[in-house]
Amino acid sequence: MTFSFDSKYTEPIVTLNDLDVIKPRALEAYRTLMSGNGEGNDKLGWLDLPVNYDKKEFAQIKEAAEFIKKNADVLIVIGIGGSYLGARAVIEGCKSANYNLLTKDTPQIFFIGNSISPSSLNEVLTLCKDKEIAVNVISKSGNTTEPAIAFRVFRELINSKYSPQEAAKRIFCTTDKNKGTLKALADKEGYKTFVVPDDVGGRYSVLTAVGLLPIAVAGVDIDRLMKGAECAMKELDSEDINNPAVKYAAIRNCLYEKGKSIECFVSYEPSMAMFNEWLKQLFGESEGKDGKGLFPTSTVFSTDLHSLGQFIQDSGAGVLFESVIKFNNTENDYIIKTDDENADGLNFLAGEKMSAVNEKARLGTLLAHTEGGVANLVFEFDRLDEFNLGYLIYFFEKACAVSGYILGVNPFDQPGVESYKKNMFALLGKPGYEDEKERLENLLGL
Ligand code: PA5
Repeated sequence: MTFSFDSKYTEPIVTLNDLDVIKPRALEAYRTLMSGNGEGNDKLGWLDLPVNYDKKEFAQIKEAAEFIKKNADVLIVIGIGGSYLGARAVIEGCKSANYNLLTKDTPQIFFIGNSISPSSLNEVLTLCKDKEIAVNVISKSGNTTEPAIAFRVFRELINSKYSPQEAAKRIFCTTDKNKGTLKALADKEGYKTFVVPDDVGGRYSVLTAVGLLPIAVAGVDIDRLMKGAECAMKELDSEDINNPAVKYAAIRNCLYEKGKSIECFVSYEPSMAMFNEWLKQLFGESEGKDGKGLFPTSTVFSTDLHSLGQFIQDSGAGVLFESVIKFNNTENDYIIKTDDENADGLNFLAGEKMSAVNEKARLGTLLAHTEGGVANLVFEFDRLDEFNLGYLIYFFEKACAVSGYILGVNPFDQPGVESYKKNMFALLGKPGYEDEKERLENLLGL
């Protein structure tokens, strides 16, 4: 693995003096995290997870994955937020956004229970018709409405397709060790359970059974994923402004304080689109509170250079900066051929690898955007694989925690998520919400 973090394209917006000024706060934030003295310090289990994980459960995850691979054409992964984004990000990153169309030896994987859309639920039911299926339902709290609805539907499907014993073998529940509706149901029905550790929050849980079981089913090497995270854990372990996780956290806070309140995560690989989604959740839920925080957004270039690119180039400088994740090599390159007629005028590219064209697009964009006043941070890896994704996951988790402490928020809670749930339950007439229902219905004129 070669990882480098280049911040020179944030200059002159972030000067050396700016970094000197923020350095004491950044180092203090790092100390707060590592000493476990900060807010949310009961949720730091992810910090040493790459070495201190439950090895027995890890072996059981592999066994369960083998069972699913052998006995199912389709794995249904039910979960929302931190309970599905990491798994989907790694599977698409390591395999493809078209994994389900390309896979031959491993089951197709459909992610549901991450919305309340009846059409997407019905679509997946159709896709499962006449297929052997297995279900992995993931919910740390065990009480989240979206996955609970989807699980009810798919439990019914599994129960109608298989005998009670066989149905129970095909359902895997990843949830709290002791509490929650899902845990109680799993115990009652005899479903195999995996644990979301108490001290690991949803968006920091991809390297637990939450992410590892679906990832292993897709044939992604979870040992390598953990090794990459372990490498990051060891390399990013110094209380030093030159520790890339600390430096990145410091620079993004400098940019925020200079009015750049949007961070745009950029990739040049469409298979990283879901990793961008994982990043948006990680940073959005960790930092967006108490009226503070960068708004995380994302683009895949060059695709989005033909949409958001216009805004970034001409109006981005005042409000945003870009964090670009770049991979230097691709296993699946394409060499552009010569065309005798050259009717499309593209022969100047003949013999060129498409990856080289992509890289020129990246360099051209980097210069255009920075000349337009948009600061760029660049994270560079030799290739897109499980090891490097494991590294990236740990890198961003640590940087996010340090950044949250620099900002002065608790990076491990998400109080704002409750508001919509309260309103939804009231409007649905859930027992206990009667007064609120009346108030909301009056507001809506119902
Ligand atoms: O990061 C988080 O904690 C959240 O995004 C949760 O993962 C999400 O709300 C789902 O919660 P649960 O796993 O309890 O169903």
